[in-house]
Amino acid sequence: MSEQVTPYKDSNLGKKEQVTQMFDTISGNYDGLNRVISFGIDVKWRKKVLQLVSEKNPENILDIATGTGDLAILMAKTKAKKIIGLDISAGMLEVGKKKIAERKLDTIIEMVIGDSEQMPFPDNHFDAITVSFGIRNFETLDKGLTEILRVLKPNGIFVILETSVPEKTPFKQGYAFYTKYILPLIGKLFSKDNVAYGYLSESASVFPYGEKLNNILRKNGFIDVVAMPQTFGVATIYKASKK
Ligand SMILES: C[S@@+](CC[C@H](N)C(=O)[O-])C[C@H]1O[C@@H](n2cnc3c(N)ncnc32)[C@H](O)[C@@H]1O
Repeated sequence: MSEQVTPYKDSNLGKKEQVTQMFDTISGNYDGLNRVISFGIDVKWRKKVLQLVSEKNPENILDIATGTGDLAILMAKTKAKKIIGLDISAGMLEVGKKKIAERKLDTIIEMVIGDSEQMPFPDNHFDAITVSFGIRNFETLDKGLTEILRVLKPNGIFVILETSVPEKTPFKQGYAFYTKYILPLIGKLFSKDNVAYGYLSESASVFPYGEKLNNILRKNGFIDVVAMPQTFGVATIYKASKK
C-alpha cells in the first residue's frame, strides 16, 4: 500500500495498536453499524463467500480478522469439523464468543486472539481461509499475505471480501458522496468513537482493489487469482489458491 491510513491522526502508536484500540472501542455496536452502513447487502456478499468455500468441502477453516464472528458463524453451514476465528481485538472476540455460544456452535468454532501477521498455526494447515473487511486494516499487507500462504494447504482456497471503489458513472460519484459525507455522519451518530468511521471510509478509498490486489496476491505467491466485483463494485470477492 502506498499510503498508511491510521484511525487516530495524533497518536504515537503504530497502525496495529491503533486499529486494535479502535475495534475494542466500537465492538459493542459494530454489528448494528455494519448492517446500517452496507444497507444489509453485506449479508448477500457473505453468502457468496460461503458458496465458494463450500464447493471445496473443507475439513477445517480459518477466518482471519473474524471480529464479531459473522463469517465464521456462516462457515458452520459448510461440513467443516473445525473453524477458527482469529482476531487481534479482544473486545470484538468477546462479542463473537457470545454469539457463538448462543447458537451452540462452540464445539465447532474456536475464537483465538492473535495477529494475522504472525499466526500461531503450523504450515499447510487449513483447507480454506477467509478474510472479510479485514485485510485493509493490516499494518503490513505483504506480511499478512505471506502468513496466510504459509498456513494454507496446497490446493486450498483463500477468499477475501473487501471494499472496493465503483469505476462507472454514476456509481463512482454516488459512492464518493456516500463515503465522504454520509458514512462519517452515520459513524458519529451511532458510534462512541468519532474517528472510527472516518478511518473506515478513508482506508477504503485508498486500498488497492481489482487487478491491483490480484497482482499483490500473485506477487505473494498465490495462484489462480480471480476478482469478482459485487454490487456495482462497492465490494469485491477475491478467490485464490496455493501450488
Ligand atoms: C472491519 S472488522 C471485520 C470483522 C469481520 N470479519 C466482519 O466481516 O464483520 C476488521 C477486523 O480486523 C481485525 N484486525 C485488524 N488487524 C488485524 C490483525 N493484524 N490481525 C488480526 N485481526 C486484525 C480488527 O480487530 C477487526 O475486528
